[in-house]
Amino acid sequence: MGKSVNSTNSIVVKDLHKSYKDLKVLDGVSFSVKKGDILALLGPNGAGKTTTVKILSTLLHPDKGEAQINGYDIKSDEAAVRSNIGLTGQYAAVDEYLTGEENLKLIGRLYRLNKDDVNRRSKQLLEQFDLVEASTRPVKTYSGGMRRRLDLAMSLIASPPVIFLDEPTTGLDPRSRLTMWAMIEKLASGGTTILLTTQYMEEADYLADNIVVIDNGKVIAEGTSDTLKSKVGSDRLELKIAKNSSLEKAEKIIDGKVLNVDKDDRIISIATKKGAGELRRILEQLEKAKIDVVDVSLHRPTLDDVFLSLTGKVTSEEEKESKK
Ligand SMILES: Nc1ncnc2c1ncn2[C@@H]1O[C@H](COP(=O)(O)OP(=O)(O)OP(=O)(O)O)[C@@H](O)[C@H]1O
Ligand SMILES: [Mg+2]
Repeated sequence: MGKSVNSTNSIVVKDLHKSYKDLKVLDGVSFSVKKGDILALLGPNGAGKTTTVKILSTLLHPDKGEAQINGYDIKSDEAAVRSNIGLTGQYAAVDEYLTGEENLKLIGRLYRLNKDDVNRRSKQLLEQFDLVEASTRPVKTYSGGMRRRLDLAMSLIASPPVIFLDEPTTGLDPRSRLTMWAMIEKLASGGTTILLTTQYMEEADYLADNIVVIDNGKVIAEGTSDTLKSKVGSDRLELKIAKNSSLEKAEKIIDGKVLNVDKDDRIISIATKKGAGELRRILEQLEKAKIDVVDVSLHRPTLDDVFLSLTGKVTSEEEKESKK
């Protein structure tokens, strides 16, 4: 079947529905991803992230709705979709008893690349993912981060234009996470379109051009991290006043916008929508009144704030923290 021409969007998803018996897992999910962009599908446990990825990679059929990957329809053009995507699942799909190199070559042959291509691509990927030294060892001796990197390398063997990464950094230590982020960024800057799922606000914030927030199978918000953050409203300015004696006077000058005054630390918190401009104005007024400010900071709302204000729930990471 023919490829529908849509040069700007590599992934188009319309109104996906999926239920297991009475359980509605996807309830009308729609979004699109431009070529070369990174989209983060952000949501808590059970939101429907893996189900979405499985449907888009043709491993699962939707009850209703449609999607095109690189112009190919997931229902009528399954084979073409598969040859246009790479998938790194939530749980690493590596063979424990094979070496890293053997895993790569096995996948390469499954993709029916010829022997020369398999060898060339494997070598390239082992270098790119810093696995050359470990390449002749069985995977069961690899660390979690190494397995994740090998898994990602395997999904790239056929140089697909679109890749799906289901929670690519869950369980990685902070340094391995940064390495993975750098690799993902590099792929996108080379023109690969990436859909990744994550439960980490920070990850979506750092990597994604666009973020789709899903909860209970529904898209509850969508946009860049800046637009999502601006939905929760104001920035917070904090001014540390030099002397206790001038605290009250400072508060009067700033007037109206003061959120909180911390008398012990001499910090005045101010709500602002104007950010740096407002800051300059306030500092000028305080200077005129000869009030010394020793420290200044501007805080934008975090994506965690956004999630909380959208769902009324904290993210699972925070839940874990607060249960400790
Ligand atoms: N084969 C299945 N049979 C019944 N229920 C299922 C099946 N697969 C998934 N579910 C349910 O669908 C919901 C969404 O699951 P999904 O795996 O898509 O969530 P997720 O967002 O990927 O979560 P996580 O962050 O935990 O990976 C969950 O409530 C899950 O229990
Ligand atoms: Mg999942």
